[in-house]
Amino acid sequence: MPEVQSRGVFVHEASPAGTRPITAERYISEAWLRREFDELWPSVWQFACLERDVAEPGQYVVWDVGRESIVIARTSDGDLAANYNVCQHRGARIATDGRGCAEHLTCPYHGWSYRLDGRLVVVPDNQRFPGGVDRARHSLKPVRVDTMWGLVFVCPNPSAPPLAEYLGPLLEAVAPFQLERMTLVADQTVLLNCNWKAVFDNFHELYHVEHIHPLHELQFDCPTSRVDLYANGHTGVTIYGHTVNTRLPIPDAPTPVLSRDLLRFGGDPGEYQGRVLDVREATQKLRREAGPRLGWDYDAFEDWQLSDVEQYNALPNLMLTLQPDDAMVMRARPHPTDPNWCWWDKFSLHRQPDPAVAARHGVPFEPHDPADLASVPRPMHDEFTQDDVIAGRKTLGVTIDQDVHFIRDVQAGMHSRGFGAQILNDDERRIQHYHDWLDHVMGVR
Ligand code: FES
Ligand SMILES: [Fe+2]
Repeated sequence: MPEVQSRGVFVHEASPAGTRPITAERYISEAWLRREFDELWPSVWQFACLERDVAEPGQYVVWDVGRESIVIARTSDGDLAANYNVCQHRGARIATDGRGCAEHLTCPYHGWSYRLDGRLVVVPDNQRFPGGVDRARHSLKPVRVDTMWGLVFVCPNPSAPPLAEYLGPLLEAVAPFQLERMTLVADQTVLLNCNWKAVFDNFHELYHVEHIHPLHELQFDCPTSRVDLYANGHTGVTIYGHTVNTRLPIPDAPTPVLSRDLLRFGGDPGEYQGRVLDVREATQKLRREAGPRLGWDYDAFEDWQLSDVEQYNALPNLMLTLQPDDAMVMRARPHPTDPNWCWWDKFSLHRQPDPAVAARHGVPFEPHDPADLASVPRPMHDEFTQDDVIAGRKTLGVTIDQDVHFIRDVQAGMHSRGFGAQILNDDERRIQHYHDWLDHVMGVR
């Protein structure tokens, strides 16, 4: 992990494709979308599902991107298998629901049945095929699969590097959060009227925060964030948290959200009258001390990680927002035919207090909110539209709802003859970096 001392933009590895202006074409052109399906998605590791959804033998999840569909399953041997979700008989989709549990993957059309590892085992009326179908030769076509941080990734490209190598420095950065041990508290999808990459653009910069997320100035110092630009188009940003926006007048007393966290960790907001900029470090110390008693294990975290927010995006489709007790795992999925639409998936994770942490540290267990101890069933997948968010019928959280309000207008503007190319500032370097590496993967010169 980088030392979060000096702020700025750190270029670890620039794209071999160099830099091109980011014009509207890549957001609105159907030809560009098709090119992505031909040259991007088949080439790279991509986030396909949560490992917890394929934890038990028989569980499977379908990952659809464009017209392609891949089925990921836990086999009876306990291995993970990923195969193209297409029957070898006449090409029907085999699994048509998002996730499920089955002994075999059986094609609904004529009943060809495959083991969860893809091996063809049943061909009804096999004697009616000339010579019979050689089941050993007609397994489902495999796709590479691997896991990291409790997330399953697939890669159709046999010559891509291993997943760990592909993710590079993100491995170590994300590891302390132990996402695989957090509880899934929401599983949401919103259909958006924008290109899938516009969601990434939005999550690649903080420039918009002062303009559309007014609450952030009461708890984060976005203007002093640190940006890291990694190989393969991955990026990170680290933002001081438990503080205020230092470009604005500093309030005399801790803001309500700062006070809430001071109290949560046993501090006294009154002590910070006139010295609000001391709250960040104070919260680190208080949180470190109070953690075991509250049932949270912070041993793997550096002090700064107990106050700050980290956000990592992995090309092509994964966005992670990380705090010690909460995480958002998000992704954008392109519409199969229309570049103006996409789905934005958000998995919300929360670290529940664990009495074993207190026991291990030899302190009494005093959870902040005993309600957090209740066991939480896996939430149902909830899918809705941006209009549901804008009308207040659904929410992805205040901040993301605000993003949802604006993002369709960006897409609308891209269609104007009056727009040329994006003009990006230092804070927005992540956007350019991501697109430069997309260009590299797709061979755009
Ligand atoms: S297409 Fe699958 S069994 Fe015929
Ligand atoms: Fe935002």
